[in-house]
Amino acid sequence: MDGSTFEKLERPRVSTPKLLPLVSMTGTRHGSRSFRTCELKCANQCDHPEPNESGNEHIRQVLRAAMSRRSLLVAGGAAAAAASVAGVVSAVPAAAGSQNGNGHGGHGGGQGPDAIGHSVVPPNREDDIVVPRGYEQSVIIGWGDPVVPGARRFDVNRQTPEAQARQFGYNNDYTMVLPLRDDRKSLLVCNHEYTDEYLMFPTGMYDDDTIKRIAMAAHGMAVVGIERVGRSGQWRRDRSLPKYNRRITVHTEFQVTGPAAADPRVGKKVSGTFGNCAGGVTPWGTVLSGEENFQGYFDVSDTVAAEHSASFKRYGVPTAKVTQKGWSTVESRFDLTKTPTEAYRFGWIVEVDPYEPKSTPRKRTMLGRLKHEGATITLTADGRVAAYTGDDERGEYIYKFVSKGKYNRHDRKTNFDLLDHGTLYVARFTGDGTEDGLSDGTGRWIPLTSDTESFVPGMSVAEVLINTRLAADTVSPTRMDRPEDIERNPVTGRVYAALTNNSNRGGTFPVDEPNPLAKSMVRDTLDGPLKEASGNRNGYILELTEDGDDAGRTSFSWSLFLICGDGTAQETYFGGYDKAKVSPISCPDNVAFDARGNLWISTDGNVLGSNDGIFTVPVAGPERGRVRQFLSVPFASEACGPLISDDDKTVFVAVQHPGETDDATFENPSSTWPHTHNYPRPAISCVWRRDGRPAGV
Ligand code: FEO
Ligand code: CA
Ligand code: CA
Repeated sequence: MDGSTFEKLERPRVSTPKLLPLVSMTGTRHGSRSFRTCELKCANQCDHPEPNESGNEHIRQVLRAAMSRRSLLVAGGAAAAAASVAGVVSAVPAAAGSQNGNGHGGHGGGQGPDAIGHSVVPPNREDDIVVPRGYEQSVIIGWGDPVVPGARRFDVNRQTPEAQARQFGYNNDYTMVLPLRDDRKSLLVCNHEYTDEYLMFPTGMYDDDTIKRIAMAAHGMAVVGIERVGRSGQWRRDRSLPKYNRRITVHTEFQVTGPAAADPRVGKKVSGTFGNCAGGVTPWGTVLSGEENFQGYFDVSDTVAAEHSASFKRYGVPTAKVTQKGWSTVESRFDLTKTPTEAYRFGWIVEVDPYEPKSTPRKRTMLGRLKHEGATITLTADGRVAAYTGDDERGEYIYKFVSKGKYNRHDRKTNFDLLDHGTLYVARFTGDGTEDGLSDGTGRWIPLTSDTESFVPGMSVAEVLINTRLAADTVSPTRMDRPEDIERNPVTGRVYAALTNNSNRGGTFPVDEPNPLAKSMVRDTLDGPLKEASGNRNGYILELTEDGDDAGRTSFSWSLFLICGDGTAQETYFGGYDKAKVSPISCPDNVAFDARGNLWISTDGNVLGSNDGIFTVPVAGPERGRVRQFLSVPFASEACGPLISDDDKTVFVAVQHPGETDDATFENPSSTWPHTHNYPRPAISCVWRRDGRPAGV
């Protein structure tokens, strides 16, 4: 790694225990996540009853073209240009869609047998990033590194909220890289999803309220200038701290846009963002970020006004006396007894303009309020904008927004309101029967509301957007196994969604064709035997083909491209490929594509005894379905990103929560990655080939 990224080894002082509540060690483990990860990241949402009781053109090319135009240079003050960098993944040429790939285990051409050629990283428990032969990796930036000019050098023993608000936040998740005029430089934008106070603070060193204030500043997002090392695929942070560098935290002012902004429960201005999980990039060069597990940030000092009960219950927001993060002791808005409306100000898709460091980020209410994993943008055949977004909880739905207006590549700012006008849909999947041995069928996007007309009887436009889950319940969408990241293949035009797992499928949720597993095979340790467990433990990759390969259409066909797990387990399916020749894969979370249209998958919560990792798989050609492990992430961490650079030379991976095991403390960590200190630091790394060729080939 790039040791210069971090400061020298520090020795923590040990003193009296700090005041944080202890993590509950009861309940069911979900995936291989520690109880602690479940509590800190998702507020144990899987231990609660599921709230759902109801029955083209490549975006990277579009952005790159736009970046070269004067409109952006003026609008952004950005030194943007055509020669770009690591970019922007998603979306699609409709015309290409019919030419490449096909449905089920097919051989549609477009990719040869050598489409992917890296050596396979075996399952392991290393406290390192393990990469294929011939590859290197190094840390770009990690928790505490200076971001904003004037930021203090990180010192774990001298943390303050003010310092943290200028430094790189905790638990990096979604990662995007945007081009600048100088193609040796770029802007890295990432989410900081949540904090682990057990691993961030030497025991007893800080008082409880200071810990909370620092944690608030460690949430949100970061914009960081990075620079290429020579002509290689390696990147490092730009130590000049360019003017674009920015931190967004729980206290950054947001403008609320779209129809729900006028509702008094939400309002036009909101303080901050948190629970930011995955995201997407727009062709006009802004970044979207999903507010996911927002329900875990609120305390209730007494009771909550009854008018909020139905909504709060459907979102898992507490309604009775409870202390969660405890933030209400430093800011009363986090006490829902005093400020119940604060809960409605989160659960949105936010949009940040990295080229305008002083711009006010926006919450786009037209994309609905849910536990947004992220939102990924593509263009429809007629040039409108479509956004796919998953609601990450067991039994929740997949949504799509389609704009009214068309994308204007000639004038950047005219696109800024596209996400405020259009129609929000939810997906219903219908199986064609299991006799064919495949989980597949057709589906419909059911409209919930436009920006001017609600299609849900008894609910206004604003009501549908604020209580999107309740609105969707009325139109019988399909309850899915935790919809996570969704991306459109830039080569074939198909759409891929990660459905990470659902231990209750076959129990609370009956199986159906798109969610077929009531049991699946797992293993406790690396060399342990496979054993049967209830539900869908290893997850699926869903392949969705919009009619006419047009994201603007309202009907589609679908199939489960991958039924994840160990290839020796009977229930697994790898796109029809020989299961003896694939890497075991468990709990897909984020998906990305390289320029050749190969799918890259990162995992979170492996239940096959191994660390999480990043996997490659062709989606067309004779190797369709051949899953290969590309890298593994350090012990007890989750692989976030992934992002494949525009030139395919760099794979960016965000290592989240290294060492987050139930017994770990700051003084006795279970990981010390990236090994510059004697405690772990979440960080973003890059992986590249020594010979300078594209990754994965
Ligand atoms: Fe934050 Fe859905 O993972
Ligand atoms: Ca079928
Ligand atoms: Ca995720």
